[in-house]
Amino acid sequence: MTTDTMRLFLDTAEVPVIKKAFSTGLLDGITTNPTLIMKSGRKPTEVYDELSDMGIRDISMEVVEDTTEGMFREASKLVNHFGDVATIKLPCTKEGLQACRELANQNVRVNITLIFSAAQAILAAKAGATYVSPFVGRLDDNSIAGLQLIKDIDEVFRVQCVHKTKILSASIRYVNSVSQSFANGASIVTMPPAVFDKMYNHVLTDKGLEIFDRDYAAIPK
Ligand code: G3P
Repeated sequence: MTTDTMRLFLDTAEVPVIKKAFSTGLLDGITTNPTLIMKSGRKPTEVYDELSDMGIRDISMEVVEDTTEGMFREASKLVNHFGDVATIKLPCTKEGLQACRELANQNVRVNITLIFSAAQAILAAKAGATYVSPFVGRLDDNSIAGLQLIKDIDEVFRVQCVHKTKILSASIRYVNSVSQSFANGASIVTMPPAVFDKMYNHVLTDKGLEIFDRDYAAIPK
């Protein structure tokens, strides 16, 4: 882990892409979901094994069972195999939050996903979640201000002194949403690799370098 604030996660299950991005030393974890695993064409545990072997210490692994018992069973298998590298990702449903409570009682990190309201974030915090994942981009897709939800959840958590549950801003489409998520109170932002790569870029950096290179070449040597 590079730092405890402004944690950056990649939202992908593409192992070679993750390997390259992690070599920068600027990333702190990975989030996956069934869609991302499906796109990778790999088995979930194969992907998690390779990421864990790479030294990644926080990997969100989503369970797919729909009963509390099933979720708890599936989560326990992952925790037994991956230890504290595993962050169990559960949906914000009654069953998911019940499983969250049981896992949190055993000190397992839980990421409650598919959060679209402050009310859901409150329930997840009450259930002992380590992370709540509001889906910024999907709210924006539906003409609801996603970044405002980060602010609303942060306000509730700050006023109510909620320290354990951190906001993990997800479904990120643009570089600007990364900085705005942090400014609005997120502790972690998970983003597609393309967004991470674009964080380096600014047209004035390129232009400035071009000028420095040109002027350096003109210095008598
Ligand atoms: O990790 C889940 C979330 O980030 C999904 O993003 O782009 O499918 O809305 P997206």
